[in-house]
Amino acid sequence: MSQTPKTFEEWWVGSHYRRFVQREGVPLYEDSYLENLATLPLADWERRGGKAAYTRLGDQEINNLQIVEIPPRGELKPERHMYEAVMYVMSGSGATTIWQEGESKRTVEWSEGALIAIPLNAWHQEFNSSADKPCRIFFGTNMAQVINLYHNLDFVFNNPFVFKERYSCAMERDYTERAKHWNKRLFETNFIADIRNFALDAWEERGTRTSIMRLYMGNASSQIHILEVGEGTYVTAHRHFAGAHVIQIAGQGYELLFMPGDELNPQKRRKVPIGPYGAVAPRLNEFHQHFNTGKGPFRQLAFKGWGYTPTTITSRGEYDPTGAARSDNPYASAFKLRYDKEDLSIREEYYRELEKNGVSLRLEPIDQGPG
Ligand SMILES: [Fe+2]
Repeated sequence: MSQTPKTFEEWWVGSHYRRFVQREGVPLYEDSYLENLATLPLADWERRGGKAAYTRLGDQEINNLQIVEIPPRGELKPERHMYEAVMYVMSGSGATTIWQEGESKRTVEWSEGALIAIPLNAWHQEFNSSADKPCRIFFGTNMAQVINLYHNLDFVFNNPFVFKERYSCAMERDYTERAKHWNKRLFETNFIADIRNFALDAWEERGTRTSIMRLYMGNASSQIHILEVGEGTYVTAHRHFAGAHVIQIAGQGYELLFMPGDELNPQKRRKVPIGPYGAVAPRLNEFHQHFNTGKGPFRQLAFKGWGYTPTTITSRGEYDPTGAARSDNPYASAFKLRYDKEDLSIREEYYRELEKNGVSLRLEPIDQGPG
């Protein structure tokens, strides 16, 4: 007779994503913050070569990061998969070759700052073109969700289905020339050579010092954007579903993370430094707040699953720590902590940080960042 389960995990079907990462033989990083993806310890990765690690940030298994390092002149083995992926280059230079049965092959060259879409289930292979330097990249994916959902690695990594509308559309849009600025703040492309200096559109509604570009890449449903926060300002706290990832790509500052109910208690607010390539992926309803304390703007790359935008864009949900009316939109999932409801010590601490860094500009904070 089988024994009575004693732990929570034993009562449930285990996480196939966790099991998969174990099988890969590389580290799995948890929490809702990682200080630097560029220096995170990785382990040898037999399946594709190079070194790798995975994340399970924000206590969720929808979106995750796969961090990869390729040795000098090294290459990864080709793969294809039934999850969406965008690739970002943190250091080094190389190339990715992308192909799909019956269609033309494409090779995209990249270096630090590049963002590349990998069309769904298309083959891709990465190469390091340097003779003496490793390169480090990460993939933002919904791998965790897909592996848990289908529960079968053969289906996920060895699936013959050909998504013509994903690959062909991506190729037609091209990886270089035919990117399209559809309208203000929405850009369709499959490749940006350096997102650290890619032109964003002003977001006047959020103040004159903030800009954004939402990116539609690889005909995918994952949502991506780049947000820039000007010197001497910060984004007011907000919270939403778990799964959204923010990766700092330029500029320095700090993040505050706290759970609802703790916003008036400085001891319970977690303060962590943020600089390239720090990552923040808040837990369900965990408030998060970005503070730019450096000279010049700071920039963040965000990726999230499907379904965030309708709520974050239309929501005017506001969180009131006094417990009064919390939202005028019953469907709102993104609540922000309004500037005038914010604990004064948050602002005072920010001003002290600015003084320490010799930044004299102090402007009204941004009402709310997306994602
Ligand atoms: Fe957010």
